[in-house]
Amino acid sequence: MAAPLKIAIAGLGTVGGGVVKAIAARADELAVRAGRPLAITGGSARDANKARGFKLENFTADPLALAASDADVIVELIGGEEGVARKLVEAALANGKHVVTANKALLAKHGKALAAAAEKKNLHLKFEAAVAGGIPIVKTLRESLLAYEVQAVKGILNGTCNYILTEMEASGASFADVLKDAQKLGYAEADPTLDVGGGDTAHKLALLSSIAFGVAPDLSAMTVEGIQHITPADIHFASEFGFRIKLLGVARRTASGIDQKVHPAMVRTRSPLANVDGAANGILVDAGQAGPFFFSGRGAGEAPTASAVVADLVEVARGGDGPVFGRPASGLTALPPAAADAALTPWYLRFEVLDLPGVLAEIAGHLSQSGVSIESMIQRGRDHGAPVAIVMITHETPQSAVERALKAIAASDKVRARPCMIPMEAA
Ligand SMILES: NC(=O)c1ccc[n+]([C@@H]2O[C@H](COP(=O)([O-])OP(=O)(O)OC[C@H]3O[C@@H](n4cnc5c(N)ncnc54)[C@H](OP(=O)(O)O)[C@@H]3O)[C@@H](O)[C@H]2O)c1
Repeated sequence: MAAPLKIAIAGLGTVGGGVVKAIAARADELAVRAGRPLAITGGSARDANKARGFKLENFTADPLALAASDADVIVELIGGEEGVARKLVEAALANGKHVVTANKALLAKHGKALAAAAEKKNLHLKFEAAVAGGIPIVKTLRESLLAYEVQAVKGILNGTCNYILTEMEASGASFADVLKDAQKLGYAEADPTLDVGGGDTAHKLALLSSIAFGVAPDLSAMTVEGIQHITPADIHFASEFGFRIKLLGVARRTASGIDQKVHPAMVRTRSPLANVDGAANGILVDAGQAGPFFFSGRGAGEAPTASAVVADLVEVARGGDGPVFGRPASGLTALPPAAADAALTPWYLRFEVLDLPGVLAEIAGHLSQSGVSIESMIQRGRDHGAPVAIVMITHETPQSAVERALKAIAASDKVRARPCMIPMEAA
């Protein structure tokens, strides 16, 4: 059998620890699959004394030392878009070492430059674990769905948000209460901003967009909205209309360019995306003439993420599978952002208003002035002088028209809270 692939792992936490254990548990089978043994020859974490359930040779508290070791491949599992993770990946590539990482934040920001650095030296930079954990979506978009032009990628890419929305629906509890429980159960970070604010989904979407559409990952060409303002009432009304609310990352071709957005969306209950529950992830790819494909599974956690890292290591051991984003980094074009109103959708609108004469007419007037026409409406709670909820579904409308109308409506003294608008996805 060929010489072992020497692997140094920087970051021995949830994912790094999982990789060490998975390689140890299936060493013989992985060697057969890879054509050579996978040998862990070094590792790094901050705390040398932490109990991790395994022992590593050549432990160092300085991850950059791994880039100067005799390892063939550096596995970066520290995280963060800058700092030591970026320095390590750059140093590893500069020193002629392949890199495997789960770091979506780093690649969403510096992906094109790092891919160019890797390709210049004929090195692999692999990141299956960075998007949707154990779901092999990076490989699928990069290697399988090639014959026809991918039209759209829509994904539930953040398990924390999906868990919160699922629990809100099941219990009727508020976002804040469910978030607190999720933090206690370990489903949400102490600082949940990157997850619930949509930033983590944006990182992953930028990577999927890059592979699907041949563009450099570009966070600046993306609007990002989180789930913090979603109420149990929205979830309840959604179900009355036959929808569920999901945080989606959506990237699609339009006539004017690529439309990339992260936002809560109403998804029809019969759509596969609507049935991705709890902390799971789901991705719908519209692969043009080849049709739609749906992928779902565990998007985070030790075993699913380690599974993706190990798959990348086996691929590196075999000699790899082509450029980082599926085409040479020099061929990744700047993302042409779609015109603001390229994608028309129906909208769910919710207003908290005082139940006073004329309030409905006032809302309808503003909507009509902005060219927003209403398909259906529900009004709930009738207590004169107290707030009531008015919910409307619009016909297909540009976002800017809805925003214009809502700005005018929000200024009314009969409106009690910021009006809510959520797009309704066709699939
Ligand atoms: N967790 C998941 O389910 C998941 C899923 C997909 C992708 N990812 C990505 O995988 C990466 C790792 O995530 P994780 O959940 O495994 O994180 P984690 O459990 O917090 O582990 C991070 C590891 O990095 C080490 N570390 C942190 N700063 C360091 C420094 N300055 N120098 C040396 N070592 C340092 C820590 O050392 P100590 O152990 O000594 O503290 C720890 O071993 C991140 O990029 C994350 O976004 C994670």
